[in-house]
Amino acid sequence: MKIEAYFTAAEVDPAALAEATVVVVDVLRATTTIVEALANGARGIYPTASTEEAVKLAHSLGRDDTLLCGERKGQKVQGFDLGNSPREFTREAIAGKRIVMSTTNGTRALVVAQDAARLFACAFTNLGAVATALAGERSVVVICAGRENRFALEDALCAGHLIGRLAKGATEDAQELNDAARAARALADARKPTKRLFTLTDGGRALIEIGLADDLDICAEVDRHGVVAEMRDRAITLAGG
Ligand code: MLT
Repeated sequence: MKIEAYFTAAEVDPAALAEATVVVVDVLRATTTIVEALANGARGIYPTASTEEAVKLAHSLGRDDTLLCGERKGQKVQGFDLGNSPREFTREAIAGKRIVMSTTNGTRALVVAQDAARLFACAFTNLGAVATALAGERSVVVICAGRENRFALEDALCAGHLIGRLAKGATEDAQELNDAARAARALADARKPTKRLFTLTDGGRALIEIGLADDLDICAEVDRHGVVAEMRDRAITLAGG
């Protein structure tokens, strides 16, 4: 399998993705939260590039069964229904609802890749399900959302663990990887995702500073859900659902 990784969405040319199968990773926290929302019965997640766009879309979808969700500087956007903490996306809060979402990096990365042939949202919490869904692909592009156009360790680590699972025991030489994918795989060979590691990352420290350290437990939980989150026609839903 050929795998290209990018450590930030800013490195990606959206036009080059038209034929590609793409995976977007934002461990802290957008893709973790998206997986949690689908696992708890959300009807669909609509990523947007800005809060203004999110407000417009929520109104056009109909506010009765649509929740406006997202963060700026990690905190719920004023006037929105929910923030971006996976712990907020309980079955009671979101089952049967459409979720319109705007986050600083994660939903923007999804919007960058929205015209790809296939597009999946991946976090540690659905790593195995995404790896299984990608098994028949000849070529995959993994886009890490990063933090404000910079490298984010937890995203690269998740990309590396995904690449490791896709290798299915093949040696490093047998995979056709670009340099970022090779670096991500080497990182994954060296480190497992743990809450402790996440507390040391830039994104983890920012969450701790605003009192959201408990989010890191969920974000570090590998294969918490068997959810394949696939985006089609601007909405992320359960693949096959
Ligand atoms: C993002 O999309 O930038 C992140 O999910 C930020 C956050 O942790 O809320």
